[in-house]
Amino acid sequence: MAPEAGSGPFVSNGAKLCRCLHCPTRRTNEVQIHVQGSHSSNSAETERVMKIVSVVGARPQFIKAAAVSRELRRYHREVLLHTGQHYDFEMSGTFFAGLGLPVPDVNLGAGGGSHATQTGVMLEGIEKVLLAERPDWLLIYGDTNSTLAGALAASKLSVPVVHIEAGLRSFNRRMPEEINRIVADHLSDLLLCPSDTAAKNLAAEGITRGVHVVGDVMLDVLNWANERLVSQPSKILETLGLNKQRYILATVHRQENTDNHHHLAQILNAFNSLDEAVIFAVHPRTRKVIDRESLKVNHGTRLIDPLGYLDMMALASSARLILTDSGGLQKEAYWLGVPCITMRPETEWIETVYAGWNILVGPDSIAIVEAVHNFRPSTPRQPLYGSGFAASKCVALLD
Ligand code: UD1
Repeated sequence: MAPEAGSGPFVSNGAKLCRCLHCPTRRTNEVQIHVQGSHSSNSAETERVMKIVSVVGARPQFIKAAAVSRELRRYHREVLLHTGQHYDFEMSGTFFAGLGLPVPDVNLGAGGGSHATQTGVMLEGIEKVLLAERPDWLLIYGDTNSTLAGALAASKLSVPVVHIEAGLRSFNRRMPEEINRIVADHLSDLLLCPSDTAAKNLAAEGITRGVHVVGDVMLDVLNWANERLVSQPSKILETLGLNKQRYILATVHRQENTDNHHHLAQILNAFNSLDEAVIFAVHPRTRKVIDRESLKVNHGTRLIDPLGYLDMMALASSARLILTDSGGLQKEAYWLGVPCITMRPETEWIETVYAGWNILVGPDSIAIVEAVHNFRPSTPRQPLYGSGFAASKCVALLD
């Protein structure tokens, strides 16, 4: 029987496993046996139940965790730590219920405040959990402040870090996400990339050890959602009174498009001048700026609250077009076969642009309107970002 994971030093085959947080042998792939102050390996112990602290905090991380957590818990013990970065029900709770994610074991309540305040509160909280839980790995996703805090807290304690969605780069360091990604990747021990481009980006920064291309766990979740939508169809089109292919779905939340309210005004001006209905699922950050700056929204643009994942995928798959600055939605548009206009000057998901299904326009109303009228992908879609089995590859690499 496998020993209980993460419960401190325990007896196994007559030897004690070393779980000291600073033990250098913890960074190898084999279980290390710490006997009377010495370290040696025992291959009979290589298949063991491990304890993994997974850090989530923002909407896209709940979605990714839905795929990985399910797989992880088949073999290992997971402590799910929610930093509280996103806290509104529409941004957090709905994903736990809708995606069957387990209730977090810890919630740090670190939402709101400046980047520094938020990250500081998370760092302190994550460190406490790591000291109490003594995990074998800390698992982080993506590029948010929660990702950064997890990577920093764990690496200072010599807890190995696994980064899912490693290696993405926009090459724009004005984006907080780009800073988070770079730091997280440089502190990670196992870097699980969605694409060859991501692995090449890491190599260009000198990171080659522990790098694996596994595909994108978001495709696993989308496949799961598509199956679920067959047995339990979403009523979102009915609720909103929409017909398939007769509307555009929009989201905007990036700091560069919201904190600079002139950019947001450009985007809204574009929506306002379209003769097609725009369904705009509004992120709380964006809602605050629209209200504070009294930005004009005309009757063709419908502001709705953020949606749960299944409703969002149902709405996305029936849209004629997607207008977004989200990373996740650019890929989902591609997988669903919906043309995407990205309102940013660059993208980390460059393969979708090369494939001809995504176009970059930046927050410029004339360019957005022009693209809405003229962008018509014609090339057949090839598989991108793996085949929908990324989560099991990620978990297998933890052994
Ligand atoms: C964060 C991530 C971004 C990710 C996005 C997905 C960072 C730096 N950015 O951006 O990579 O793509 O999440 O949504 O981590 N707020 C609420 N209610 C909520 C959540 C947030 O009112 O449930 C408010 C916050 O208090 C803050 C603003 O929205 O005023 C922005 O939230 P923040 O956590 O900074 O990041 P996001 O813009 O959501």
